Amino acid sequence: MLTLDCKHLKNFIGPHEYLAVKPQIEHAHKFLHSEDSFGDNIGWVSLPKNYNVLEFEKILKVSKKIQEDSDIFVVVGIGGSYIGARAAIEFLKSDLYNNLPKNTPDIYFVGNSASASSLSDVLELCKGKRISLNVISKSGTTTEPAIAFSIFKEFMEKNYGKEHARSRIYCTTDVEDGDLKSIADENGYDTFVIPKNIGGRFSVLTAVGLLPIAVSGADISELMRGATCAYDDLLKEDIEKNQCYKYAAIRNILYKKAKQIEVMAFFEPRFSFLGKWVEQLFGESEGKDHKGIFPTSMIFSTDLHSMGQFIQDGSKNIFETILFVNHVGKDITIKGDNQLKSLNFLEGKTMNWINKKMFESTAIAHSDGFVPTIVLHARDAFEATLGYIFYFLEKACAISSLIMGVNPFDQPGVESYKKNMFALLGKAGYESIKEILDKRLDKN
Ligand code: PA5
Repeated sequence: MLTLDCKHLKNFIGPHEYLAVKPQIEHAHKFLHSEDSFGDNIGWVSLPKNYNVLEFEKILKVSKKIQEDSDIFVVVGIGGSYIGARAAIEFLKSDLYNNLPKNTPDIYFVGNSASASSLSDVLELCKGKRISLNVISKSGTTTEPAIAFSIFKEFMEKNYGKEHARSRIYCTTDVEDGDLKSIADENGYDTFVIPKNIGGRFSVLTAVGLLPIAVSGADISELMRGATCAYDDLLKEDIEKNQCYKYAAIRNILYKKAKQIEVMAFFEPRFSFLGKWVEQLFGESEGKDHKGIFPTSMIFSTDLHSMGQFIQDGSKNIFETILFVNHVGKDITIKGDNQLKSLNFLEGKTMNWINKKMFESTAIAHSDGFVPTIVLHARDAFEATLGYIFYFLEKACAISSLIMGVNPFDQPGVESYKKNMFALLGKAGYESIKEILDKRLDKN
């Protein structure tokens, strides 16, 4: 379902360099597959094989109910608690999912910023509509979704009455800890569990991603089937037999050659949120201890007309991973046009064929311009392939971070901003901002 193509790397990496990184990869593999590695954080590794079937069936049942009784499904969450679901819905359906005719609810994602204006717009859209709400937070304490949830909860209770609102609010959170779990218990909301041993950015194949994805009408059984195939395919330690590990090895070899930025490029606008998911996964996992490859994502050919110049000719600290999907679905054939004569050389060609030629020429141009270019060919844009892609990239990220010597599963940097924010907002139990500033002065 996903194939690694290294043909553009020959001038950048020699066979001996792969040999050198092999032992580290094998070590990282053992670490990831041993039960006690980072104790609580590797539940996602075996998830495709041992997910909770009862919970999965409940997701299918509830998603059907939401499809039947709702015009709009509002998903409240931030970071790993929303990006994967949005990426999947756009990848499988469309980035214009809400605007296209369909028999499933519109889906809006809120609580992923502190923007009053964006929240107000969604509230406006919800007026007079049948709403269901899914609030997702593993910790149950994150500020942005907490604000959005309290506003939407009030909106729904006002519109439906407390009793009826209760039957339309679904909480996805920890099995026992956090404010959200307590609120769900107090109000009798239906809940879905985020396993303790799966962190936010690795949770797309849990209820976090699966409920919203199922509401969009996508086939989550197929998604899990693809992830299971990836689990089976990516078990071998040897990088020559494991494309995921080879990709992790390539990233690290290039990083050691001062390639500090990875551009993940796609050739379809509807894959742009998958790019956001990749940015979060790799950025939050790998970027720590003053190390890491800076992940960014682009949509070609759109961005070839803006950032393409920099990639081709700018600083040579970039490498590129193109995730090209071979069969994307819809296609359009170009007709001859008497007026637009400059286009006639494309008469009879399809847009998907043209897009493929653009991909091939870009890969050649960029690697000729000293930008090492890795290609991941995905078979199609269906659920099973996406499940495969999610699992492949999660594992590549974990292996890559481990051989770089960082813990992929924490995010201490995010806590620093939160500490300052709570101080500024005057939250009880946090140092005041004056205390924080005084400490900084003392240090200097
Ligand atoms: O990957 C992560 O752990 C983070 O991005 C979290 O998903 C994000 O901070 C949201 O956290 P929570 O689900 O606890 O609200």
